[in-house]
Amino acid sequence: MASPNRILIVDDEMATREICRDFLAENGFEAETASDGNEALQKLDRETYNILLSDIQMPKLDGVALLRESRKRFPEIEVILMTAYGGLPSAIEAIRFEAYDYLTKPISREILLNTVRRCIEKIELRRKLKETNKKLLEQERLAALGSVSAWLSHRMRNSLSVILMCSHYLRTRFNAPGDAETQEVVGAIIEKVKLLEKTTTEFINYSRSYDLQKVTEDVNVILADVIKSVSVHMRLSDVTLRQELSEGLPKIQCDPHILNEAFENVLMNAAQAIGEQKGQAIIVKSECVTSTPGPTPQTSSGEPLRTVAVTITNTGSVIPEANMERIFRPFFTTKDYGTGLGLAITKRIVEQHGGAISVESSEQGGKKTSIRIVLPVTAERPAAENAEENRG
Ligand SMILES: Nc1ncnc2c1ncn2[C@@H]1O[C@H](COP(=O)(O)OP(=O)(O)O)[C@@H](O)[C@H]1O
Ligand SMILES: [Mg+2]
Repeated sequence: MASPNRILIVDDEMATREICRDFLAENGFEAETASDGNEALQKLDRETYNILLSDIQMPKLDGVALLRESRKRFPEIEVILMTAYGGLPSAIEAIRFEAYDYLTKPISREILLNTVRRCIEKIELRRKLKETNKKLLEQERLAALGSVSAWLSHRMRNSLSVILMCSHYLRTRFNAPGDAETQEVVGAIIEKVKLLEKTTTEFINYSRSYDLQKVTEDVNVILADVIKSVSVHMRLSDVTLRQELSEGLPKIQCDPHILNEAFENVLMNAAQAIGEQKGQAIIVKSECVTSTPGPTPQTSSGEPLRTVAVTITNTGSVIPEANMERIFRPFFTTKDYGTGLGLAITKRIVEQHGGAISVESSEQGGKKTSIRIVLPVTAERPAAENAEENRG
């Protein structure tokens, strides 16, 4: 996420707003200006800012009115008010409408910089708090799902397998030529029970907590495994499968069985999205990507993060813009017999490996959908150190 350093300076005195802007820009902030409250509101409507630094005495819409309006319409934005007169009434108003701070002109550069920096720290803290809350909620939801899933796995799975066994038994009993209709009915029961079994299993897989058994493994080996098991299905439906696996990939710390499940979900989706269409392709690509210094993920030591990126692309399908975010949510499906859990499970697995998953889809130059999974390469401990530990 970009750091919260966008500031809108509002002052009817040109000299003041330009000095403030240049000074803040010199100190690494993105500062823009507006000459009164109305112009500021127009800018706030169009663009995102984190801090509003506003004079109080201005023609048209003054600073206190702007503060009031912005608290109502843009509650995330922090407001710092400035005044040349330091009157008590406006200070009281500022407090009442929760301005972050109230500065009296002339404002020293040091005070301005410190105030803005403290304000940004507050915004960052609030963002982190929100993120933590979201994670906690997610964990609570998973815990609730966990108890449902324990119940499901005992009651539902057992009952379903009994029904399935009974149906198979019935099928063998009605084999005479006149029993075609009965065969059909039993066939329908078997099909539905199998679907329920699949849904139950996927639900349990989604809500169980994965205990990763991590080893050092080459992602290409896992991919080769998945491709082998899925390609049987693909040959049937006339899909070209292209492998673009980079040689010499760094190995990663992962649970190969669980990661296998994640890749398989994505590949199965690709195959299902192609369906009966002829002449389509699936491309499985792996590569080592080193993120450059900057706003991309970095290790705590500040070194660039090495990752292995796996991209699974299929032609012949496109995800509508409105669904792009939804596809990773549990139970979102556009298929008649889908569970909507495949990508939710995949996302959890990828995140438990410290990675990230994303999607790209477009219709330009033919329909195309790509799912990209990026996994961090964590440094392996030197063999000598391991040996040392084993001895001790
Ligand atoms: N390769 C793809 N092309 C088009 N749509 C896709 C693709 N992969 C996933 N989707 C969409 O994402 C939805 C959710 O997928 P998933 O979580 O695996 O559940 P399910 O496969 O049971 O529907 C699918 O129903 C589909 O709409
Ligand atoms: Mg699926």
